[in-house]
Amino acid sequence: MIGKLNHVGIAVPSIDAAKATYCDLYGVSSDDITETKELAPQGVKYAFVNLPNCQIELIEPLGENSPIRNFLEKNPSGGQHHVCFEVADIYVARDEMVVRGAKVLNEPRIGAHGTLVIFIHPRNSNGVLIELMETPKGAHG
Ligand code: CO
Repeated sequence: MIGKLNHVGIAVPSIDAAKATYCDLYGVSSDDITETKELAPQGVKYAFVNLPNCQIELIEPLGENSPIRNFLEKNPSGGQHHVCFEVADIYVARDEMVVRGAKVLNEPRIGAHGTLVIFIHPRNSNGVLIELMETPKGAHG
């Protein structure tokens, strides 16, 4: 049911510092790192590092009630936060996950790529928080 790995989400205390790490340590061109944007309803700032086969999503808390604040309290230097797979239809995916007994954490909502996303509780996937994201219309491959 799941399709391509779209991105790996990394929670970081500072997106600017993390961008510098990907440039300076791993040799990513700054052209391949997106501008930092805010997703206020979800309490995050984010930017993407474009790799040949997928992306790294850097996420930094935005606001006092950001859901990743707790994560960063436990992992002050940041850490791997979630993995995102593409699905063709988010509502079909949501319904199937519920039927299969998974704990779906939210109603479909707009994610950082502008398409609908849901999150699946880590207890269903070996401790890994899974994001399912509807493939953007017109995306190829
Ligand atoms: Co994500």
